[in-house]
Amino acid sequence: MTKLKSWEHRLAGAPDRLMVDFVESLSIDKRLYKYDIAGSIAHAQMLAQRKLITKSEFAKIKRGLARIEREIAEGKFKFDKAYEDIHMAIENALVKKIGSPAKKLHTGRSRNDQVATDLRLWLRDEIDTIQAKITGLQKSLAAKAAKYTEDVMPAYTHLQRAQPIVIASYLLNFVEQLQRDFIRLGNCQQLVSISPLGAGAIAGSTLPLDRKSTAKQLGFSDMAYNSIDAVGDRDFCAEFIFDCALISTHLSRLSEDLIIFCSNEFGFVHIADSFCTSSSMMPQKRNADALELVRGKSGRTYGALMGMLTLLKAQPTGYNRDMQEDKTHIFSAADTISQCLDMVSAVIVHTTFDTKRITSGLDAGFLDATSLAEYLVRKGVPFRQAHGIVGSLVAHCEKQSINLADLKLAEFKKFSPEIKADVYKSLGAANVVAKYVTIGSAGPKQAKEQIAFWQKQLAKR
Ligand code: ARG
Repeated sequence: MTKLKSWEHRLAGAPDRLMVDFVESLSIDKRLYKYDIAGSIAHAQMLAQRKLITKSEFAKIKRGLARIEREIAEGKFKFDKAYEDIHMAIENALVKKIGSPAKKLHTGRSRNDQVATDLRLWLRDEIDTIQAKITGLQKSLAAKAAKYTEDVMPAYTHLQRAQPIVIASYLLNFVEQLQRDFIRLGNCQQLVSISPLGAGAIAGSTLPLDRKSTAKQLGFSDMAYNSIDAVGDRDFCAEFIFDCALISTHLSRLSEDLIIFCSNEFGFVHIADSFCTSSSMMPQKRNADALELVRGKSGRTYGALMGMLTLLKAQPTGYNRDMQEDKTHIFSAADTISQCLDMVSAVIVHTTFDTKRITSGLDAGFLDATSLAEYLVRKGVPFRQAHGIVGSLVAHCEKQSINLADLKLAEFKKFSPEIKADVYKSLGAANVVAKYVTIGSAGPKQAKEQIAFWQKQLAKR
């Protein structure tokens, strides 16, 4: 049996050892210490403003908390899991340091509004960090794209050759995905920036707490207006994790592409040795393990999302201890996504496209078939008919193992009299990309415009 803690007088005895280990969250939530201290200082300052504690008590509390913060930062603080969580650990350390004023710190406050405040403060910084990392990756992708605005590669649908594109456009498609991730996190940030402090355990307080003051001191943009919801709400955690899960999805798709592209079968990209691993048995191997791990780590963010939603589901209204599990999931999602964004940024910087090899294979797969159909449309042939004509032409060429551009004009005419000598300008991958005119197309002109747009946008952040 362990010793009785100050808040356990209601209980007949000290908690069982098994209980101490089971209920503690200190091992996980100690990383919230800075935010817990910031929240406590704001709360204490407000208590002093409202004359619930004296100015001198506030000064002692503030100084004591600053010392504790330093001790934790320097690794000198002794974390004792008997105190359950970071909130109690710090409060008890403060009592030891400054005595009775520390016992007034929790006036009008519960761990329920305290932990919700800490989480929101932590998440606010974390979102900033992740958004900065997204910007970093977008910049790496845009810079890489700028090197390949004229180089053509096949685009795939169903992993079958579809239409020709420039490599730049391929890379920029990820900049767009990441842009939505950036915006989503920004939206999430608005829901995070709400102060629950002052909601107490569930019903608010009979003390004249100034909730506006604490919200302002802590830089929140607003406060929660229902004390019950304030302590029971973890929607922002689920939302943040969802955003991370979707970033994982995007990174896993990019990773999967590059893993395929650096196989011998494709040979489209070369990832620097410093970002590859070898095999303990097969000496010739160069594996893209970093990207495989990025792909695999999506299991963590998806798992965190399921874990978070599950712990919230069917909880009765108000705070329940289930909530304590939220931290495992938000920390896991945030750490995973931070690491993966760093890794993918580095890999992109150290990856080159083998344009010679890509170009040498561009004739395969009739990448110019759609362009030919659109050529016929420009000659007045209805699209469905043009589609049929080109389908027959492709089948004809396939039988003879030739490309569309290898056909003589006379042969073309057998399939459609509308085909003229200018048809050759619409054939061949390089010709096709130069003919793209629609906004957002994957040709060199549009890619250059998009790069200019992104470079300007990203420089502003
Ligand atoms: N460690 C707890 C958590 O993370 C703090 C809140 C505990 N509140 C309570 N009434 N037991 O959720």
